[in-house]
Amino acid sequence: MEIPFSEAYRIKMVEPIHKSTREQREQWIKQAHYNLFSLKSSQVFIDVLTDSGTGAMSDRQWSGMMLGDESYAGASSFQNLKDAVEKICTFPLVIPTHQGRAAENVLYSATLKEGDIVPGNSHFDTTKGHIEFRKAVAVDCTIDAASNTELELPFKGEMDLNKLEDCFKKYPKEQIPMCVLTVTNNTAGGQPVSMKNVRETSELCHKYGIPLQIDGARFAENAYFIKMREEGYADKSIKEIVREMLSYADIMTMSSKKDAVVNMGGFLAMRDEELYHKCSMYAVMNEGFLTYGGMNGRDMNALAIGLDENTEFDMLDTRIRQVAYLGSKLDEYGVPYQRPAGGHAIFLDAKKILTHVPKEQFIAQTLGIELYLEAGIRGVEIGSILADRDPKTGENRYPKLELLRLAIPRRTYTNNHMDVIAAACKNVYDRRESITRGYVITRELPVLRHFTVELEPAK
Ligand code: F0G
Repeated sequence: MEIPFSEAYRIKMVEPIHKSTREQREQWIKQAHYNLFSLKSSQVFIDVLTDSGTGAMSDRQWSGMMLGDESYAGASSFQNLKDAVEKICTFPLVIPTHQGRAAENVLYSATLKEGDIVPGNSHFDTTKGHIEFRKAVAVDCTIDAASNTELELPFKGEMDLNKLEDCFKKYPKEQIPMCVLTVTNNTAGGQPVSMKNVRETSELCHKYGIPLQIDGARFAENAYFIKMREEGYADKSIKEIVREMLSYADIMTMSSKKDAVVNMGGFLAMRDEELYHKCSMYAVMNEGFLTYGGMNGRDMNALAIGLDENTEFDMLDTRIRQVAYLGSKLDEYGVPYQRPAGGHAIFLDAKKILTHVPKEQFIAQTLGIELYLEAGIRGVEIGSILADRDPKTGENRYPKLELLRLAIPRRTYTNNHMDVIAAACKNVYDRRESITRGYVITRELPVLRHFTVELEPAK
């Protein structure tokens, strides 16, 4: 008999979680104004709100925490981080930040001005938020295929080079401070970008004299997909693939809470010294001195170790197979999601599930609430609430896709938990015809409203 697949780790510490009744959940979600972010974690049974900062660190990472150097300046922990970023990610200059959006804040404070254009492949919401907050414009150049949830493409998160070149032709280079390539493409469903596309995006940017920024939150997962799916990479190690991929970029922003498997942290890395000096001022003002930038010494140690460990094949194989396993259970039950299964998450296709809920009543949010009521599972809406209002017209934006993301934390849940999630999805799917009403907003903020929005059931 063939020996089946199993996880590339064993478990040393556990954290109890608790089930609840449907009546309790009805009460709790009402008290939370129908915003899943406002629930207490104790009110959630399986939390797939995000894979950000929710992973289980390794014994090596925890031991690195004990050796943290908390010196204000020149800490050895910073040196460990700097060495890891240079060795693994190829960037000689690094500024630690407290998380990914802080790296974006430092970078964009130093480089963006009103009216600037920042093209990219589905900018993540904080990236877009930071761009639009500065009255610059995020131009989406993702391939059209990304918005067809049924298409099975190996690299569905890619940049459309024609759209990108049109943008470069339309605006002068002085108005385009950078182009952002997000790997994997979170907003498009955790879909990867091929090495070919990374290289060609880089070549096009450089032809027009525009720096390429890689948003590398899930760079290691992207490298895994390149190894598994792109010709010529099967025999290369993840570390070799990562080095090649990142060598095409001039700047890297990193949310270490994802692929470096730490609970908090990020960094901004680059090659250009002038840019580094420009960014330094904003880093010192907003984050902290350049050798800690908002992180504890112990956290920088754990981050350096996490970068090393999570660029090994077995860790990534275990992780991505678990997401694929959840996808295969949903296939069994016929529940539609963005195909193929992404690196960090399954994105349920809410428009195909809740066909009777009008878009003005927030289809994906409604699905998120139903799944919570069903079994205490907390996903996150990637739809029109997240899309915010158009900054110019003030109207709601309705993206092509209404998705409910189920993001799987790294090394945190077992496949039994995946079975529970899949069964809950099936139950909601089976009673989809009876769900005809969604929700309306009663309170919201002008930017990044989804975190704090308050809703009530539509009449
Ligand atoms: N870029 C991408 C692609 C992300 O997914 C995130 C965060 C960020 C940047 C910002 O990083 O949270 O450390 O400030 N994504 C989380 C998520 C929040 O749930 O997908 P951060």
